[in-house]
Amino acid sequence: MPTQMLIGGAWRDGDAVLPVLDPATGERIAEVAAGSPADAVEACSVAAEAQKRWAAAAPRARAEVLRACWQTLVDHGDELAELITSENGKPLADARGEITYAAEFFRWNAEEAVRIHGTISDAPSGANKILVRHPPVGVVVVVTPWNFPAAMITRKVAPALAAGNAVVIKPAEDTPLTALRVAELLEEAGVPPGVVNVVPTTDPGAWFDAAVDHPAVRMVSFTGSTETGRKLLRRSADRVLKVGMELGGNAPFIVFDDADIDAAVEGAMVAKMRHSAQTCTAANRFFVEGGVAEEFTAKLGDAMGALTVGGGLTEGVDCGPMINAAAIEKIHRLVQSAAESGAATTLGGSPIDGPGFFYEPTVLANVTADAAITRSEIFGPVAPVIPFTDTDAMIAAANDTEMGLAAYVYTRDLGRGLHVSERLESGMVGLNRGAMSDPAAPFGGMKQSGLGREGASEGVYEFCETQYIAASW
Ligand code: SIN
Repeated sequence: MPTQMLIGGAWRDGDAVLPVLDPATGERIAEVAAGSPADAVEACSVAAEAQKRWAAAAPRARAEVLRACWQTLVDHGDELAELITSENGKPLADARGEITYAAEFFRWNAEEAVRIHGTISDAPSGANKILVRHPPVGVVVVVTPWNFPAAMITRKVAPALAAGNAVVIKPAEDTPLTALRVAELLEEAGVPPGVVNVVPTTDPGAWFDAAVDHPAVRMVSFTGSTETGRKLLRRSADRVLKVGMELGGNAPFIVFDDADIDAAVEGAMVAKMRHSAQTCTAANRFFVEGGVAEEFTAKLGDAMGALTVGGGLTEGVDCGPMINAAAIEKIHRLVQSAAESGAATTLGGSPIDGPGFFYEPTVLANVTADAAITRSEIFGPVAPVIPFTDTDAMIAAANDTEMGLAAYVYTRDLGRGLHVSERLESGMVGLNRGAMSDPAAPFGGMKQSGLGREGASEGVYEFCETQYIAASW
């Protein structure tokens, strides 16, 4: 397991170290080399040189390297899953799912690398031709979160490499181990030295300031909170950098009274609880039509109550720890405030005594649409249920947020489901589905949930420039 930083194909120590904790115990499990701002700058310089050669390689050659990356991540799936669980805490089954998902971004983008199409057309005047092509942007700074230590890296790196870019990655302070091992495997699979660089740090602000000022850097791709995204956007504006931003969510999960309630509960458990409820697509507010609110809440309580909470490495555990003590404090504050404003706690409602950072699976009934818990991304195993009677008022409440990442709708009436989906201000809608993440689909948000899309064909063009040539012959 590498613990040094990776710059230009060389593994090195830093001036400082970054401790990595197991969130299931709170104990230190490793120390990783922490890079300085100067290390970030050096990685950008090295990436700039490597990028020229990588961009000059034939698209088919790049595609074959990406395909080999997919294979190697799949082949090392069990080992990578254990690493994810040890530093992130998620149950092994979720970690295995993450690796399949993470690897798939390489297979998908191997297929996209040879399909980056331009266009040619006649100018309306007839005087010339209009040629449009899509060269790579250059060096991309990639800043990733702790909740998907592998997949949030590969969702950016695979399309960036497919288009001919090089990357400098700052992994999350909580989960650098997976990033380093993934980078090592990518090099083993044939990614040339310097095309993928990983520089963990204990000082992300100074690291980012130094990297974005490097003249070769042309793009910032970030996944994380909207609050941090705004800061990175402001800073990227100084150099008018291209940006990709996957930010926070506040997903409504809507259940109409004609829905298959058992299927809705099953979908709710996926939408709420996958990866221990720490996803930005997580169902954050359950709007349930009056006639079925009691039945849905009771069945959701049964399903949440049947979850086994514990360390993710233990077989049979469904919900692992939260990432740190601050996460537990925030979740509990929101639950207490909902209870104070009249919600009924029908299940859970408390932190679980240590070691580690655990919270009880919790269901809150009769929450009001304007309660504080409906305005904040919970990022924990808490399901607030808001009964509704008027569909228009419910849709207005569902849209009454600056976030617009994911939404879920359950109904047996497909016409109603599609109509409601179209009215939701959300980049992604799961219609009778609790999961929608797919490397072949455009992942991203409306409003303050982000800018740009990752995955699908759109994903690779995000890492390209557009050049137009007016040509006569
Ligand atoms: C996220 O939570 O940031 C990503 C979730 C996903 O890709 O499914």
